Amino acid sequence: MSGCKKAANWKSKMEITATYLADAAKAPVTVESCRFHFPLLRRQVNGKPLVYLDNAATSQKPQIVIDAIMRYYHEENSNIHRGVHYLSTKATEAYEEARIKVQNFINARSMQEVIYVRGTTEAINLVAATYGRMHVTAGDEVVISAMEHHSNIVPWQLLCEEKNAQLRVIPMNDAGELLLDEYERLLSDKTKIVAVTHISNALGTINPVKQMIASAHRRGIPVLVDGAQAVPHIKVDMQDLDCDFYAFSSHKMFGPTGVGVLFGKRELLEKMPPYQGGGDMIKSVTFEKTIYNDLPYRFEAGTPNIEGGIGLGAAIDYMNGMDLNAVAAYERELLAYATVRLKEIPGLTIIGAAKEKASVISFVLDGIHPHDIGTILDYEGIAIRTGHHCAQPVMKRFGIPATARASFAFYNTKEEVDVLVKGIYKVKEVLG
Ligand code: ALA
Repeated sequence: MSGCKKAANWKSKMEITATYLADAAKAPVTVESCRFHFPLLRRQVNGKPLVYLDNAATSQKPQIVIDAIMRYYHEENSNIHRGVHYLSTKATEAYEEARIKVQNFINARSMQEVIYVRGTTEAINLVAATYGRMHVTAGDEVVISAMEHHSNIVPWQLLCEEKNAQLRVIPMNDAGELLLDEYERLLSDKTKIVAVTHISNALGTINPVKQMIASAHRRGIPVLVDGAQAVPHIKVDMQDLDCDFYAFSSHKMFGPTGVGVLFGKRELLEKMPPYQGGGDMIKSVTFEKTIYNDLPYRFEAGTPNIEGGIGLGAAIDYMNGMDLNAVAAYERELLAYATVRLKEIPGLTIIGAAKEKASVISFVLDGIHPHDIGTILDYEGIAIRTGHHCAQPVMKRFGIPATARASFAFYNTKEEVDVLVKGIYKVKEVLG
């Protein structure tokens, strides 16, 4: 893998003094040198070297992100958009610079299209509560897919209940691929919005969202894409996708928790009512009338997650330092290797075999509950996620209550896949 090539730049940009980052910058570009940037990956769990394979739940954070947050609190902590004093100006600059980094990273047309939110869940709720409430009326339909995370189901269900509208669901095949013919058939004059995931957190399927967006647009229907699992793995480009809304979380893309982004096309955002009322989202307030602020602040009521935005900016600096195509190729290689190795294990079934798949493997073992798999692997220092992955309809579709899920990032290695395989044999030995 030839990522991490600009480690030296990260250092100078962020004025980081940690000596190991400097050492890493001099090191050859390898997965190991990338791993070096993530302090937590060096720890032990239950007396074993940590094998962190729960990246779809949250990624680990590079030192550059940790340092950016520390530096904010050490040197700049202050409220933003409010003060004229030095610290407030510095904090505002850092927070708004991070917004520009997001804009460039996703190739949005303007910073007005980048709304800071708490995470993907809040981004989707925001759209359902504003655009959705404005446009969906009785008898209308909202189209989602069979592989959505609960955060891209429940907000639309709430809206449909409120408006007496109908939720329609694009089905999928046994490989975990959406049936696009069925999708086309579902789109009609009644469809007011399509909300679909870019990459399934439970199956790893990469959906052909660009094609799906174009289909919806031919009928004048806007599309929201849940990009939570996509942004850490593939280059996303708002202008190329031409999506109307795109939601993602910082913590899955090597940034801090508690902050995320809603991208929205400016022409849509401008016509939407505010989501929450409060400070910062207004230009003026009297008891008779409030004049709302301009974009993007109109959707950002209250003191935001300032260190989160700054940390997200640092995560983007980190990702910009990598060759994202090389990262994607390396993750594909890792996925292929893990798929072959796991399939060799008797009694193990992989759930989700889409042709286009991200580095997520859900699996079940004959006669052993996924929670027990997770517990025994934990004794070996291996972190995976078990359960329904906030995607209960996916579990129902495959007739299972839960899966064990290993999800990889660019800092994972084939050796870690081997440790996972060995761990699964141990699970079978203990419980099989
Ligand atoms: N949505 C996250 C996951 O898939 C939490 O694990």
